[in-house]
Amino acid sequence: MVTSNVKEGSKPWWMRGNYGPVSSETEALDLPVGGEIPSELHGMFTQIGPNPPEVSPHWFLGHGMVHGILLREGRAVRYRSRWIRTPHLHSPSDDPDHPENSPANTNVVVHGGRILVLEERHLPYEINSDLGTIGPVDFGGAVARSLTAHPKVCPASGELLAFSQSRAEPALTFYRFDKQGRCITSQAAELQRPVMIHDFAMTSEHVLFLDLPVVFAAETGSAVPYHWDGKHQARLGVMSREGGPISWYNIDPCFVFHTINACSIGNRITLDACRYPTLWEGGSENFTSPAMVHRWTLDLNAGDVREETLFDVRCEFPSVDRRLLGRPNRYAYVSTMVDEEMGSIQHGHRVVKLDFVTGTTEHHHFGVSRYVCEPVFVPRSPDAEDEDDGFVLAIVYDRARDTSELVILSATSPGSVPLAIIALPERVPFGFHASWIPADL
Ligand SMILES: [Fe+2]
Repeated sequence: MVTSNVKEGSKPWWMRGNYGPVSSETEALDLPVGGEIPSELHGMFTQIGPNPPEVSPHWFLGHGMVHGILLREGRAVRYRSRWIRTPHLHSPSDDPDHPENSPANTNVVVHGGRILVLEERHLPYEINSDLGTIGPVDFGGAVARSLTAHPKVCPASGELLAFSQSRAEPALTFYRFDKQGRCITSQAAELQRPVMIHDFAMTSEHVLFLDLPVVFAAETGSAVPYHWDGKHQARLGVMSREGGPISWYNIDPCFVFHTINACSIGNRITLDACRYPTLWEGGSENFTSPAMVHRWTLDLNAGDVREETLFDVRCEFPSVDRRLLGRPNRYAYVSTMVDEEMGSIQHGHRVVKLDFVTGTTEHHHFGVSRYVCEPVFVPRSPDAEDEDDGFVLAIVYDRARDTSELVILSATSPGSVPLAIIALPERVPFGFHASWIPADL
């Protein structure tokens, strides 16, 4: 059994409070529920994030633990947490760049009947529905070293669109995998210099990349050696989903961890994302500028890009109806971020539903000592017609009681009283990403 060796005392912020790890794996059956879990929710909600057994040198580098809550027939059948068994779990200092030595801490994505745990500097790891680790996935040898933690499953074709990055050439490689996970496109591309690209976006015709001023800088000596360089020209890149060259368009300086969605309509492409005006000006340990929702509208004929901020909400961790990835969407759901302790941006108290048609928002405030992780939209059924006919699920941490809950909101009216609150047997650290895994994956 793996247990944590982290001692109390002087610890960096990512090892303290609810950013810090829990000490062991946990399991509980038949969880207490307030309210009613919608019977349509048949599957597993997951939250994954760093949960290092030893002190990690950066929030991004702590070894990953996945938390899964199984919902069936209106019951919370099981909670289980498991570290992902990669070599990194027991030997984090041995060859950190080996493709299988992943901290496996960032995201969970289902594709081709497989549950993949992803971290952007290494290969994905497949896990089973009991959260047991199966092994690394290299897509039949097509992917040598690494894959983004944010690949996109195309709702129309079932294809998986993804990319990898390297400090050696090629700096960027775009991949397209068919429904079964076979590589059907591999397209290398060059960048101006190594930069941090955490996410990208897809439309029905294109994939979009962001080349932004958070650049590789070995001299910083940081465990995550990137920092802001205002002289680096920010660019939006457009590539065909079939591969081929990237066309680059200059944009205002900024950083983006997470895109919301994108679409191509005629010769116009829109991209929505959570945009930071700057990031890591003082190094990669602190997050000191909030992100807001931003839209870039690119006219492919004129070659110009219009930019606008859309909502007055400081937020991160966007979620949309994944049936609309790459197509126009009306709604998105985000969690707010707040300026709090340590002069840094931290998880906030609210889930906000964004309406891109009316420009309005609807808020659910969980309480002043309660903090919410990434919200996930789940449609009521695979063929539900209305875009917001479904549920928003998110883990909420209660600092006063040092406990966590899985809260289920109506996506139609998320500001209302929760449909259900599921008590978890142990707190769930603020991790990176949440996902919904349907029972019939
Ligand atoms: Fe992410």
